[in-house]
Amino acid sequence: MVVTSIRSMLQLQKMNKMKCMMSIAARSFSDFRYNDLKIHQTKMPREKPSQDTKLVFGKQMADHMLVAEWTLENGWDIPSIVPFGPLAIPPSASVLHYGIEVFEGMKAYRCDDGSIQMFRPEENMKRLSKSAERLSLPTFDKEELLKCIAELVHLDQDWIPDCDSSSLYIRPTIISTEPSLGVKPPDSAMLFVITGPVGAYYDTGSFQPISLLADPSFVRAWPGGIGDCKAGGNYGPTIYAQKLAQARGCSQCLWLYKDQVTEVGTMNFFMFWVNENGEQELITPPLNGLILPGITRKSLLELARGWDEFKVSERDFTLQELAKAASEGRVMEIFGSGTAAVVSPVNKILHLDDVIEIENNGFPLAQRFFDELTSIQYGNTEHKWNYVVDTKVGETKQKQPNLQ
Ligand code: COI
Repeated sequence: MVVTSIRSMLQLQKMNKMKCMMSIAARSFSDFRYNDLKIHQTKMPREKPSQDTKLVFGKQMADHMLVAEWTLENGWDIPSIVPFGPLAIPPSASVLHYGIEVFEGMKAYRCDDGSIQMFRPEENMKRLSKSAERLSLPTFDKEELLKCIAELVHLDQDWIPDCDSSSLYIRPTIISTEPSLGVKPPDSAMLFVITGPVGAYYDTGSFQPISLLADPSFVRAWPGGIGDCKAGGNYGPTIYAQKLAQARGCSQCLWLYKDQVTEVGTMNFFMFWVNENGEQELITPPLNGLILPGITRKSLLELARGWDEFKVSERDFTLQELAKAASEGRVMEIFGSGTAAVVSPVNKILHLDDVIEIENNGFPLAQRFFDELTSIQYGNTEHKWNYVVDTKVGETKQKQPNLQ
C-alpha cells in the first residue's frame, strides 16, 4: 500500500516535471522569428582591416551584432541587429556568477565569384540548442536563428576577408541574465551573435605543427559532466593548464580522461596509424560525452569514409597505446580539428618526462583533409554542406532608423 502510493507520487512528480519542461520548451522556441527581425544600421561604420593586416583571432569585431532577449514569462522578444557595442546586464546576472553560458563557433567564407557561404551551419544550430538545454538556457527555432545570422553576415559582408586563408568568424552566444544569486534555472536570458574577420587560429600560422603537454593531473571533462557542450565553463579552466604547457615549451594540452586520449587544446583529436592488427586506421575518440561533437570532426570522418581507403574508427584508445605505436614507428600522423583551427598537425607530445616524437613527413593526410575541406568552404568544390548566404536573406527586410 505504502509502496504503491510512493510509486504513484513519484509518477505524478515525474508527470508534473515533464509537463513543466514541455511548457518551457514549447515557449522557448515557438516565438523566435526571422520575420520579426529589426535592423538598426550603424551610422559610423568602422575601418575594415586591409588585405595585409595580420588578423589576430577574435580581436577585431564587425560593425553589427544580433541580439534577442528571452523571459520565461514572455518567451523570445523580437530579434534585432544593432551596432556592435556593450551589453547592459545587471551585475547580479547569474551568467557572471555561475557561468550559465553557451556558445558556437562558425565561419562565413568569401568565394572567388564574390558569393558568401557558411559551412554546415545547421549543425551549429543543433549543437547550440543542445548545449542551451543542458545549461537550462532557452532553446529557439534553429532555422529562424540561422536566417537571422545569415542576415547579419550579409549586412557585414564587407568584413569578410577576400582571401582563402581568412574568413568571418561567427560567435553565437546565449547567457543567463537572471538578476539573482540563487542557483536556479534562469527566468531571463539573452542571445547575441558577434562576428569578426579571422586568419589562422595560432600565431604560428595555419598548418604549423604544434606540440602538446599531456599532464594527467588536469582533466577537461568527465562522465556526467558537460564535456560535450560548447559552454564557456569548458574552456576558461583550461587556460591554467595551457599556461603550464607553454612554460614547458608546448603550445597546447593533450586532454586525457584516466589514460584515454580525449581532446587536444580546443580541438578534436585524430591519429592515423597502423594499429595492432597491422591495419591502416584513422582513429578518433568516440562521442561518449567526454568530447565536443565537432562539426569539423564529423566532416573529416565523412570525407574519410567516402574515400574508403583505410579503416575509420571512433573508439577509445590510451596514451600508452599511442606511445607504444610511436616507439614502433606505427604512428603516421596526429592532428587536431576544429572550426577555428581547421586541421592542425601535431609533432610532439610531452607526457611526464617522456617525449613522444611524431615524424614530420609533411602530414599528407592532414594536408589532404585541410585542402579538401577548405576547397568546399571557399566554394571551389560544390558540396551539400555549403549554405549560400546570399540566397537566404530577405531582400525587402525593413531597415530601422540609424541608431548612432
Ligand atoms: C572552434 O574551433 O570553433 C572553437 O570554438 C574554439 C574556440 C574555443 C576558440
